[in-house]
Parts: sequence; structure tokens; C-alpha cells
Amino acid sequence: MTIQRAHDDILKLILAAEGGTEQIDAAIRAVGAERTAAILADELVNRADLHEIPGPGTAGVDIQLALAFEGGTVHHVVRVGKSAEHEAGRVDAPHATLESDLAELLRSVLGPWRGVEAQTLRIVWHDLENVERLGGTMHVFPVVRRLVRGTTGRHEDLGELSLRNGSDKWGLHFYTPHYDRHFGPLRDRPLKILELGIGGYGNPASGGGSLRMWKRYFPRSVVYGVDVFDKAPLREQRIHTVEGDLSSAEFLESLGRDLGPFDIVIDDASHGNADLIAAFKALFPYVRPGGLYAAEDLQTSYWPGYGGSSKELNSPATSMGFLKALLDGLNHEERELPEGTTASETDLTLTGAHFYPSLAIFEKGVNAEGASASWIPRQQMSYEEMSAVDWGEGLTADKD
Ligand SMILES: C[S@@+](CC[C@H](N)C(=O)[O-])C[C@H]1O[C@@H](n2cnc3c(N)ncnc32)[C@H](O)[C@@H]1O
Repeated sequence: MTIQRAHDDILKLILAAEGGTEQIDAAIRAVGAERTAAILADELVNRADLHEIPGPGTAGVDIQLALAFEGGTVHHVVRVGKSAEHEAGRVDAPHATLESDLAELLRSVLGPWRGVEAQTLRIVWHDLENVERLGGTMHVFPVVRRLVRGTTGRHEDLGELSLRNGSDKWGLHFYTPHYDRHFGPLRDRPLKILELGIGGYGNPASGGGSLRMWKRYFPRSVVYGVDVFDKAPLREQRIHTVEGDLSSAEFLESLGRDLGPFDIVIDDASHGNADLIAAFKALFPYVRPGGLYAAEDLQTSYWPGYGGSSKELNSPATSMGFLKALLDGLNHEERELPEGTTASETDLTLTGAHFYPSLAIFEKGVNAEGASASWIPRQQMSYEEMSAVDWGEGLTADKD
């Protein structure tokens, strides 16, 4: 399998965007000012949802970007007609010009949200007095406003993003509130996300709803999607697709090795019980400490047609049987492990497990709290015995 190391330029910019001025300038120099402008324009166009604006009228709208960097100006143009495109260069008669310092725009678009907004951003309207020209292009105002909105720290609702991007994670399933609870605190971070199952099955141009949703929800992330079908037409800036069969152990292993580690992994692929278990075993080790692993559509754990069972609820061959057994691993330090065995790597790194209807989310970290020392009696003591123990001053003070 050849997996391209994609998005190197944008990763450089995302990481630099939370640094100081020198770091940002160095990243722009490394990536190139024109390429940086193209990357930022692409983000702004994506966040603006320009296709939602009624129109366009008889004529398209051209918005000039004029971005200052190291004494020069980089020009890039956004053209909104039946679709929205952008390209390097100048147009003779733009409807409006957005002027900004390039480094500042980078910080406001790809830096941590709630960071500094683009203070030097200035909108220059052209031809406002030319009613004839303006008549066919009144939507120049919403176009500009929506482009500018992409530079602000606006948090979009995940359920809404799911609906708008065509994912079934809200509406058919109701996963998004749970995801929001667990993923919300990570939104602002530069993340690498892997989703198994892109959607749309054999139609190469169909699916990708959740990849687009994650891209928008995590504005500083790079999202990788995997599918047994070729989904290359769905690639975008910050979205990369990989073709491969997740029921192949070699392919699963190569995913972690070649693309990992990941901050978040989401399994929404075949929903076969054996596939779900194999994916967890192969990919949980490649989740970074502090990261999360989500397994969807756990209803198939009860469906024989997917290798599940409604009778043998604790069978390790079913998704839920396998996942439930991980809960005892959470308490590996407290359990008496069978003679000659030690805690598994999963036990040592699983720090939380959350179950919802048809969805489970696992937290990765270091599970070594050392709370139950061996001298702590494993037999429940009476109140008299407990009262006779010298708990030490600090603990006594706490009890008061
Ligand atoms: C439910 S759809 C994914 C939907 C998408 N994640 C979303 O929320 O918009 C499942 C996808 O998994 C893919 N798939 C099924 N079995 C697979 C396998 N063995 N390996 C890789 N992909 C598989 C299918 O082709 C399909 O596109």
C-alpha cells in the first residue's frame, strides 16, 4: 500500500499558527506566500458555504484578496458563480477586496480559536455607487460577510454539520451529542483523525459526509478516511482518502504503521463483529495518549447476520462482548490476575470507557494510578477497626 504523506504544507502552517510572529513568518517562507494564500483561501471558501447563498445573479462575484507579507502583496481571487473557485492572481474589477496581513490571517484562520482575530482585515467595497453593476450582484455582501466569518472563532454545532454534510451520525443515528461531549475539548487542537468507512459504497464520488463534518468541526485537523472502494474524488484540503479492505490484517497493520499515531479513530465501516474487534486491536495501540477511539453501530453485536448474538451476550467474538471485557482491564491494578499473566497493553493504556446506544468511546492514556497499595486490606473492615487506624494528620484534617 502506498499512502502519501499528505498535507505537509498545511500541517506546517497549522502548527506555526499557534506560535510567535517569527515562527509564523518562517512557516510562510517555507511553504511560500502564494501557497499559503491559496491554503487560506480554500479554508475561507469551505467555511463560507457559498453555495447556500441565493443566486448568483446574471454575473458572478469576484473577491480580491490582497495579503501583505514582508514588504510585498500576495494576490489571490475568489470567484463565486454557480460554484466557488479560487486562484492566484488579480482581477481588473473585483466587487470587493479583502486586505490583510498574511501572517495575521494565517493566525486567525488556522490558529487556536479564540486567538487573535485578524485585526488588520479591511473590506474595500468597489463600485458601490454603480447601481447597474451592483444590481446583478447584490449577493456580493453575503459572500464577503461569509468569507470574513471564516476568520473568526465561531464554533459550529456538530449535529447541524452532520445534517449539512450528509452524514447519518445525527438524524438516523444520534451520535453527535455524545461526540460533542468527548471531542469538544479537543476542537481547538491540531489533530490527526482517522475514520474507517467513508460512505457511498461503490460510487467514488458519493459519501464523505462525516469526513467533511469532522474537517469543519475540527478546523485545525487533518482527516483521513478509509474505504474498501476508491474515494479519491472526495479528497479536499485537510481530507485524505485511503483505499483498502479493513478485513485484511495486513492492511489494518499498515494503516497504524504508515499513518499513525492518531488523536481520534472512529470505526464506521463494515460493522461486522470480527472486523470491529480486529480494527480495535490493531488501531487502539496507535491512538495517542489523551486521544479517543470510537466504535459505532454496536447494534450489530446482537445480529447473527453480522457475527453477533442476542443470546451469548458476553461472547468475546461479539463486539459488545469484546468491548465489555475491556472494562475489567480498567481495573487491572485492583484485580487478582491469573497466575503467570500480566496486564495487557490495552489494560495499561485504557483510561475511560463510555457506552451509549450503539456507540462506545474509549479514552487512551496511562492507566497506572497505583491507588490500591498491597497493604490495604482486601477484606472489608468494621467501623471499629477503621476508627482504630492511624490515618495520618493530613487525612484526618481532610475528614474534618
Ligand atoms: C456507513 S458507511 C460510512 C458512513 C460515513 N462514515 C458517514 O458517517 O458519513 C460504511 C462504509 O464502509 C465501507 N466498508 C464496508 N466494509 C469495508 C471494509 N471491509 N473495508 C473498508 N471499508 C469498508 C463501505 O464501502 C461504506 O462506504
